[in-house]
Amino acid sequence: MVLLSLAFVPTIFLIILLLYRRTQEHKVKLPPGPRPWPIVGNIYNLKPIHFKCFYEWAQFYGPIISVWFGSDLNVVVSSSDLAKKVLKQHDQELANRHRIRSQTNFTNDGVDLTWADYGPHYVKVRKICNLALFTSKKIEAQRPIREDEVTSMIESIYKDCSNSSEKCVITLRKYLVEVAINHISRVTFGKRFLNLEGELDEQGREFMSIILSVRSIKRPSMVVEHVPWLRWMSRFYDPPLNDHKDRMDRFAKEIMEEEDKQHLVHALLSCKDEYGLSEETIIGLFWDMIMAGMDTIAITIEWAMAELLRHPRVIQKGHDELDHIIGHERNIVEKDLENLPYLQSIIKEALRMHPPTPLMLPHKANANLNIEGYEIPKGTSVLVNVWAIARDPDIWPNPHEFKPERFFEEDVDITGHDFRILPFGAGRRVCMGAKMSISLVTLMLGHLLQHFDWRPPNGVKAEEISMAEIPGVVSYMATPLQIVPLPRLPSHLYKRIIVDH
Ligand code: HEM
Repeated sequence: MVLLSLAFVPTIFLIILLLYRRTQEHKVKLPPGPRPWPIVGNIYNLKPIHFKCFYEWAQFYGPIISVWFGSDLNVVVSSSDLAKKVLKQHDQELANRHRIRSQTNFTNDGVDLTWADYGPHYVKVRKICNLALFTSKKIEAQRPIREDEVTSMIESIYKDCSNSSEKCVITLRKYLVEVAINHISRVTFGKRFLNLEGELDEQGREFMSIILSVRSIKRPSMVVEHVPWLRWMSRFYDPPLNDHKDRMDRFAKEIMEEEDKQHLVHALLSCKDEYGLSEETIIGLFWDMIMAGMDTIAITIEWAMAELLRHPRVIQKGHDELDHIIGHERNIVEKDLENLPYLQSIIKEALRMHPPTPLMLPHKANANLNIEGYEIPKGTSVLVNVWAIARDPDIWPNPHEFKPERFFEEDVDITGHDFRILPFGAGRRVCMGAKMSISLVTLMLGHLLQHFDWRPPNGVKAEEISMAEIPGVVSYMATPLQIVPLPRLPSHLYKRIIVDH
């Protein structure tokens, strides 16, 4: 009995301390928000699709809200003006990253780029990666790879459907993910794991298995992650995370040791000593690029195609433009894109309505600051709800309507200069791959539209297609899109244009 009472004393003391801290924190004027419960904060009433939940709360509490994950404060902004304050005016003070345990684990506590805090290391690796992969010259040099991968996708869809006797229904995501993975592995380390028959070699199988299993690894729940006195339980999740990290390290090292070092990996290794890059950092950058450049590409096109199915009028206008500018005698190539404003507008509209990372990546305050009269204490995670900003009727007329024509009324930049549309973020942590991605996704959609007409599967009405998202940092469609491709060009235009580099 005495022992039991002794065990209770520190627990009660800890609870009082936490409650005291919370009341002290409330003395500063934080943004409004739903009432947090003791210990768990707002985790108790947080819905699985966070960006939609924050959007609903913003309708009630206003465009800047406080949301407590346990004892961790998040501030979520949902207006274009506030996004500008966060990403431009306070860019530097909000340039750190909040890392959850799995990110801390996979990146050796932020020695990479995406999850690194802002500082000399970050500035150095961002500059190196930019020179190695993302200058206009590099992006132009990667053009043949994009054209190869996109024509390969068209050939696969065509072949798979030619072999089927009935009206062919495909799961589009499979083809989109293949393009994204082949593209990013080729530009990052000069390798394509799929052979001409579409089979993976052993290294390719390991690569795919690492990528696919990253989503299914058991991670600490939000309560364990954010309630301080439960955080010790996180270590139970370390063994699977560490095993996965070992696999990622082994794979990256194997690539780094190969004779034929290429592209980013080659560039990083050749300036390793000059810039004092550790092996952990090179491995971190390697996986940063793969992870950032994979899902985002497939997600963009899957949503765009879902919207097209629901709006046959837009498919028709897209076909009209392609037929007029390119015709039926040759394939669209990347140089054509500048002459296809309607196609470009479809991509912008898809990224407006369905940003692949609806809350961008979490920024973190490296100092106390004040936004709109509210205190943002140092250490707060700050999220920009890009998805909500796209639904603000004050800046987008009929915001819920899929209408590419809205971009004909004015030329809107989507790479971080116009705070009404921020699929790639903005400011010093803006997406490094924005230009490369726009080229790739526009080319993908251009080919899909030029080569095929598209219909929902028999018996499915376009308006019945589920537009629900999965929970998580990236927002895949919850139900992978099933779709019927109907070829519309001569058969010789469905061949892959192979480039060997
Ligand atoms: C449609 C495709 C893509 C979208 C919508 C997208 C979106 C984003 C967003 C919202 C961020 C966070 C910005 C912020 O925190 O302020 C980001 C960061 C990043 N993206 Fe992308 N991305 C895409 C494709 C790519 C590709 C293809 C690559 C590389 C090959 C890439 C590399 C990165 C990197 C390295 C960062 C971290 C930048 C930093 O922390 O400084 N992204 N991306």
